[in-house]
Amino acid sequence: MGVKSVGVVGAGTMGCGIAAMACLGGYPTRIQDPDADVLGRAQETAAAALAKGAGRAWSEEDAERGRGLLSTVAGIDGLAGCDLIIEAAPERLDLKQALFADLAAACGAETILASNTSSLRVADIAARTPEPERVVGMHFFNPPTRMQLVEVVATDASTPAALEAATEVVERMRRTPIRAKDSPGFIANRLARPFFLESLRMLAGGVADATTIDRVYRLGGGFRMGPFELIDLIGLDVNLSVARSFYEQGGRPERWRPSAIQAEMVEAGRLGRKSGEGFYDYREGRHRPDDPDLDIEAPSVDPGQLARIDPAAGEILPRLFAQIANETAFAREEEVGTPADMDTAMRLGFNWPLGPVGISELIGAGRAAALLKDLRQDHGEAYAPAASLLPATGG
Ligand SMILES: NC(=O)c1ccc[n+]([C@@H]2O[C@H](COP(=O)([O-])OP(=O)(O)OC[C@H]3O[C@@H](n4cnc5c(N)ncnc54)[C@H](O)[C@@H]3O)[C@@H](O)[C@H]2O)c1
Repeated sequence: MGVKSVGVVGAGTMGCGIAAMACLGGYPTRIQDPDADVLGRAQETAAAALAKGAGRAWSEEDAERGRGLLSTVAGIDGLAGCDLIIEAAPERLDLKQALFADLAAACGAETILASNTSSLRVADIAARTPEPERVVGMHFFNPPTRMQLVEVVATDASTPAALEAATEVVERMRRTPIRAKDSPGFIANRLARPFFLESLRMLAGGVADATTIDRVYRLGGGFRMGPFELIDLIGLDVNLSVARSFYEQGGRPERWRPSAIQAEMVEAGRLGRKSGEGFYDYREGRHRPDDPDLDIEAPSVDPGQLARIDPAAGEILPRLFAQIANETAFAREEEVGTPADMDTAMRLGFNWPLGPVGISELIGAGRAAALLKDLRQDHGEAYAPAASLLPATGG
């Protein structure tokens, strides 16, 4: 049975964008929110999101047709009859568990229930749902109208039919679905761990300052933004709470240990762009000068090319890439997704110039393993290699 209508729970930042994409996919869509003011603005917000992409990502006619497909409902009961319901309510387990139990009671047993959670386990959200096999994750990125990636998350209980239906809806929304296992942070946010944490460790260890590390990542790594300007954009507090959630859910592995520097900055109210100051100062306009054109074929691990950026670049990028290779190896061992989906996740979810599997190949298992071995000797267990990288260390 194909999905013919979609319900969205929560009309906040994500809910309105998801509803807009469901309408773009041609689905009659109902959106629900307990806050009457938020619900009152939902149609306008979704219409504005559709209008913004019109003429670029989709046609004016598509946007117009989409606008006519959205309606609002005040209570959960109003979603009865929808074939797929995507929940985008606040990130609280108790709230989501109760919501899913209510949704299951209000809708027929055929309705597929999806959560847009970014950090909770989907199986935990389904714990109070009588038929957990119809529960899946559909993890959109912000804003859903611009970000292509959607992680379709499979719990041990999710049926193939529910997963396939969710995947088809993502395709009709003109987004790119990948399949992820119900594991901490799924694929994209997990593989982004070293991008943030290894950078913070290099900063703490005095390898270079934040401005230099960012410049090296941009010029030598081909990343659009360096880790510190990206953390400033996300918010140091938001990024730190994601880091803490990974650390706890992963059983406190050293490589996922949150940064003390970041915690101190959050404590001091330096939250990034939104507070005017984070790793950079935003109070007087631009936070950094434009990069020079050094004619480097990024991403590169070539010492000669990297030396043109900064004397420390030859240490910075190989360290980052070795840790990306390590996290990718752990993720592959845990089968959180296919290698192809891992690359798609980082290219579309974080705009990486090359996926993590590609980066692992660029540095090579032997070099990554040798670097991790040295770093582990000097700096400890944050550099403990994944089992599948061990043979490459030669012992
Ligand atoms: N914002 C992001 O960047 C982002 C990205 C990916 C995933 N997510 C996830 O999406 C979900 C929603 O995040 P958001 O940023 O849109 O939050 P938000 O605060 O903007 O919106 C949440 C909405 O849910 C409503 N709500 C509260 N209680 C509710 C209930 N019991 N039933 C229905 N609606 C209720 C609120 O009134 C609010 O309008 C969270 O799980 C979050 O982790 C967020």
